[in-house]
Amino acid sequence: MIKLKQLLAEKLLSGIAAINSESGLNASAIADMLEYPPDAAMGDLALPCFKLSKTLRRSPVQIAETLAASLESDCLKKAEALNGYLNMYISDKYYTDNVLCDVLNKGECYGAPEFGKGKTVVLDYSSPNVAKPFHIGHLGTTVIGHSLKKLHEFAGYKCVGINYLGDWGTQFGKLIVAYRKWGSRKDVEDGGVDKLVELYVKFHNEAENDKSLEDQARAEFTKLEQGDIENLELWRWFVDVSLAEYKQTYKLLDIEFDSYKGESFYTDKMPAQVELLREKGLLKIDDGASIVDLEEYNMPPCLILKRDGSTLYPTRDIAAAVYRKNEYKFDKAIYVTSAGQSLHFAQWFKVVQMMGYDWYDQLVHVPYGTVSINGAKLATRTGNVILLRDLFAQAIEKVSDIIEEKNPNLENKQQIAEDVGVGAIIFYYLSNNRIKDINFIMEDALSFDGNTGPYVQYTYARTCSILSKSTPAACEDKISTNEERTLLSVLSRFEEKVVEAINAYEPSIITRYILDVAVAFNQFYHNCQILGAEDEAVRSTRIRITKATQTVLGNAFELICLKKTEKI
Ligand code: ARG
Repeated sequence: MIKLKQLLAEKLLSGIAAINSESGLNASAIADMLEYPPDAAMGDLALPCFKLSKTLRRSPVQIAETLAASLESDCLKKAEALNGYLNMYISDKYYTDNVLCDVLNKGECYGAPEFGKGKTVVLDYSSPNVAKPFHIGHLGTTVIGHSLKKLHEFAGYKCVGINYLGDWGTQFGKLIVAYRKWGSRKDVEDGGVDKLVELYVKFHNEAENDKSLEDQARAEFTKLEQGDIENLELWRWFVDVSLAEYKQTYKLLDIEFDSYKGESFYTDKMPAQVELLREKGLLKIDDGASIVDLEEYNMPPCLILKRDGSTLYPTRDIAAAVYRKNEYKFDKAIYVTSAGQSLHFAQWFKVVQMMGYDWYDQLVHVPYGTVSINGAKLATRTGNVILLRDLFAQAIEKVSDIIEEKNPNLENKQQIAEDVGVGAIIFYYLSNNRIKDINFIMEDALSFDGNTGPYVQYTYARTCSILSKSTPAACEDKISTNEERTLLSVLSRFEEKVVEAINAYEPSIITRYILDVAVAFNQFYHNCQILGAEDEAVRSTRIRITKATQTVLGNAFELICLKKTEKI
């Protein structure tokens, strides 16, 4: 459809030139003005002519009428002026020869823009803090991050997914103290991250009464930093235990990272950057700490070294960015975190610029809002945080119950429950603009009749079931209903949506698009006989349209990490 907009824009441009030869407009400006009317009865594409009235010094009504009279294109069945809008109706020939054939020929590549070819994107996402719970606050970074990776890969970028584990810092001193005092190897082997979290919580509770614990923890962390063998072994083990558990959740979501280089990896890479900051005269001493003053940019100072000379979160991020630039030669580095960290990113991005790195503008922070869950039903044994693992487990269990009740003989029940349960959570989460705070309502996410994951996966399964019963005949395509036209019109917009989603770092654009496809397909399915159509050409075309729908849904599912369920 990008092509079609361009094509029509060029035709429109000659009509516009006839009204005013010095409008100064070009085809791509006009293409950008074209809109999809909310109701297919008003055409497949429309030009809101008020956008031109100032330039052309005519009323929108006049412009629409003049353009309607002169516009001619093989792509169009007709063009009508209505209330200052020029409504254009795509011809059936364009639908069959361009849209339908294009989807079927390109298959898995349909909708893929190519602007990422030869470029590299590094995506830093999920990145939980070791020995702290992997909870619903991480749902956003994990799911948005992975979807952005898929979107960029689809556009041809080489992508590097990095899990920047929070695997360093004073919390390890605390954990080492707590483990030695109250834990045992067996406890941690049996209890995994939950046990580590418990020890960590106990440390804080005990430290309220025993101030010496904090000093002990600091001392253990210093020993760790200095390479004490025993502490290093414990640390490595705590990281491994945590990672093994995170990986179970990643496996459920089909997420693999290209790198797990966490914060600890950058310990020896920070001094060079601190030195550079000093050389450039950017460091100021403030109450003993080293900072970069950002007053000029209306931001609080960026902290580089604490009073005792130890490094901080921004210090590590700066060193990591420099390392990644050298290692991967990225064209773009994306960081997905909660909006609570927006200031942190704005600050250190600015510092990178001040240091003279000319790639500072390739750093992109993608923030998202908070997640809460309705009611206390999902609270876990670790207290009031809800673990991601438990959220998914609960969704899977509920879907299992639904299957047992409605379709107990379904083959492969467990796998399907997993695909639909996980999909429901992902789809629900990605239905809103990422920056909005969301309140999770499990019943809504799992419903089969709302705008949900189960609904769109069910629609996908429906296309599979139809296609398993038939193959199209070799005859010319014949379109005969508006349901077919509307569906093809929606299918034709896929690439445009992909581009929009990438430019806005917004997977929800794909989620909402999937709903548009599902709604259009279900209307087509309910109102048009597919396998039962009498006319052979009509039947064959409808089967091909079903195949095209399956292809587009499948390609779009991939982008938001939704499984293609052939049966539900
Ligand atoms: N570990 C951090 C947290 O859980 C997120 C890390 C984000 N990435 C980064 N490069 N700072 O809050």
